[in-house]
Amino acid sequence: MTVFGSGSENWKEPSSPRNNGIMHTRREFLAGAIPIIAFKNDTLRLVESLIAKTGEVSAEDEQFWMQIQEAFTLDRTMINFNNGGVCPSPRVVQDALIRYLQYQNQAPSFFMWRNLEPEIESVRKRLARAFGCDGEEIAITRNASEALEICLNGFDLKPGDEILTTNQDYPRMITTIKQRELREGVKMVQVNPPPTPKTQQELLRAIENGITEKTKLILICQVIFMTGQIYPVRDICRMAAKRNIPVIVDGAHAFAQFPFLQSDLECEFYGTSLHKWLMAPIGTGMLFVKNSRIETLWPLMAANKEQAKDIRKFEEIGTHPAANHNAIAEALTFHELIGPQRKAERLRYLRSRWTTKLINEPKVHFTTNLSPEHSCGITTVNISGIKSADLAAWLWDKHRIFVTTIAHDQFEGIRVTPNVYTTLDEIDRFSAAMLTAAKQGIA
Ligand SMILES: Cc1ncc(COP(=O)(O)O)c(C=O)c1O
Repeated sequence: MTVFGSGSENWKEPSSPRNNGIMHTRREFLAGAIPIIAFKNDTLRLVESLIAKTGEVSAEDEQFWMQIQEAFTLDRTMINFNNGGVCPSPRVVQDALIRYLQYQNQAPSFFMWRNLEPEIESVRKRLARAFGCDGEEIAITRNASEALEICLNGFDLKPGDEILTTNQDYPRMITTIKQRELREGVKMVQVNPPPTPKTQQELLRAIENGITEKTKLILICQVIFMTGQIYPVRDICRMAAKRNIPVIVDGAHAFAQFPFLQSDLECEFYGTSLHKWLMAPIGTGMLFVKNSRIETLWPLMAANKEQAKDIRKFEEIGTHPAANHNAIAEALTFHELIGPQRKAERLRYLRSRWTTKLINEPKVHFTTNLSPEHSCGITTVNISGIKSADLAAWLWDKHRIFVTTIAHDQFEGIRVTPNVYTTLDEIDRFSAAMLTAAKQGIA
């Protein structure tokens, strides 16, 4: 078992191109550091021992989840049900981040470039293990937008070439395609898949129907941010591969929400946030590019010709904090401790606790298909007769429950995204408030 809070895996004796090969002993290294190593996180020790004692911990084992709840530094005067936007990091991740920030600020060109930056390689390997790919296929970015814009801008296209996507994809990715339209005369084609499909085949068909002989690139989401709908990524990638059309997968909401590997998706280009469901430091993301495709994709910021086949060419962004990407390691450890499967089951358990109380209310409508193959921790719901913006404002003003609203031509709703730190009491307060709104209105 990993020892939490020690950050020890990151404190190897560094040797990198940037330190001119000078090696430091661990003692020398620590002597130069401020007192940062004494940190211990008792909560996580307890969680580890709970798992060790009980073996299997279930989605409903409140003794276990209470420890997870305590691992965060939240404002419990509010109920944060907008984890879809960005998630808080647990204390261990915050502590690692602060530790690295303080360490690097002693003399960044020495401590950061020489000692901290090389550790990006160990983070790369661990992300690759979590995604089930080769370390040489993972670039660490600052968010999903950066990873996906690398892909969307990285293909050479001619005027008239079509980029196919949906009208439920993320606005910034749509804006990226629109900029290519303005600049180069490529054309965006947006299909309109059903927001609440009964089968995933409906989604595959919707994408397939948008393909023409001019389609040169496809952008799809693994999870739709508006509804939490999970897409049949592998089927779409296989269908497109037969036609020789590359597919960029927007996994901003998928990675670490529920378990899967790259081999389950058979994707070649995948971008995700790490500050959402992995709960890594804010300002972290990941790009996967299949080995054989790295050379074919331009980086967003220029890299040397010699780097053409090197995944690191996508990280040539100039000076940046090493603290952020190194603290991803703590987030991975926290995530692995909970267990990806257990986490997904907990998210579904929390969801069913409130949805079952509302499902028979005639005025309550779910845009999200609630069955597990279609969704996990994200649910979009509305109450007929109440505008979702008004419902969200009422939930906040009267109940201090924070949700975001979703507006689309065909549907609208509030998007509800609890997280592993959410308590059952918070879920119950939300369902009680929603029942009041559905039965009595919010006037
Ligand atoms: C589907 C989707 N793609 C991309 C993004 C952009 O993510 P980031 O803010 O990490 O760049 C988001 C953010 O919410 C999203 O929901």
